[in-house]
Amino acid sequence: MKKTASKRDLLTLFDLTPNELLKILSRAAYYKKQRKQKKLSAYLKGKNVALVFEKPSTRTKVSFDVAVNELGGHSVSLQSDSSQLGRGETYEDTAKVLSRYVQGIVIRTFGQEGLEELAQASSIPVINALSDFCHPCQVLADLLTIQEHKDKKLQTTVSYIGDGNNMTNTWIMAALMLGFPLKVATPQGYEAQVDEIKKYAAKFPAYQKNWKNITLSHDPEDGVKDVSVVNTDTWFSMGQEVSDEKRKLFEPFQLNASLMKKAKKDAIVLHCLPAHRGEEVTDDVLDGPQSRIWDEAENRLHVQKAVLEFLVRK
Ligand code: CP
Repeated sequence: MKKTASKRDLLTLFDLTPNELLKILSRAAYYKKQRKQKKLSAYLKGKNVALVFEKPSTRTKVSFDVAVNELGGHSVSLQSDSSQLGRGETYEDTAKVLSRYVQGIVIRTFGQEGLEELAQASSIPVINALSDFCHPCQVLADLLTIQEHKDKKLQTTVSYIGDGNNMTNTWIMAALMLGFPLKVATPQGYEAQVDEIKKYAAKFPAYQKNWKNITLSHDPEDGVKDVSVVNTDTWFSMGQEVSDEKRKLFEPFQLNASLMKKAKKDAIVLHCLPAHRGEEVTDDVLDGPQSRIWDEAENRLHVQKAVLEFLVRK
């Protein structure tokens, strides 16, 4: 794939054009096939990538680590509790230093502002491995899973049920870019950050027409009615206080067999994981025949390779 500028970041999905996003999915599918054939491409030979995690991770950390290594590069891991970030060194200073050592930064952090500060001060690509605002690499893997199991053209109706969090925000951004119908149902007071998304989307006049395909409601049954893809996520994101009051409010949004009956008969189920079984999703749905969660998790690896190739390979 060709890059269009000298240094590019992936801080939100809007850092890609719709065409670039689709090319990344296509490359991820290529990497998946290639790995099955036990072949690898050394596109990151001689490159070092810093994996900076200020929050816990299993899938994102391991998939990026394996992706860098299988592409012939070398990864260096930093956790906030064992690096100077955890003692208050600024994102700006961290970025300037890492830019002298490595060729790319993958970072899981808190605020989008910190991520933007880091990217601004970096002379190397910065990849968002989850922020409080969005999780672009996860939704890229989810889109690949939809292509594999439901609709190659990504025009089928997708639903997101539950907490209005970074995943919800990212699904809205994906729907704005690609124009597929998206139904979001969240409890009152737990909506997606629509005003913030609108600020980012304002730079893209071509996306505005796609708001009409996005339904935001507080009705879980309507949220899954006749959809082809049903998504949910934890009710308590990392760092959020767990409360019985919130759990009670969210009960009607639990993805269970009864709610699944409202979706299309052949709808698939996605969950970015980790799941809180018996809370936002029941075991029978998560482990049932409509679930595609393990393919979804595997696709993280293939997508990370495609993202690294696009941004870090020169
Ligand atoms: N889905 C996801 O980001 O998983 P991890 O928190 O384990 O990385």
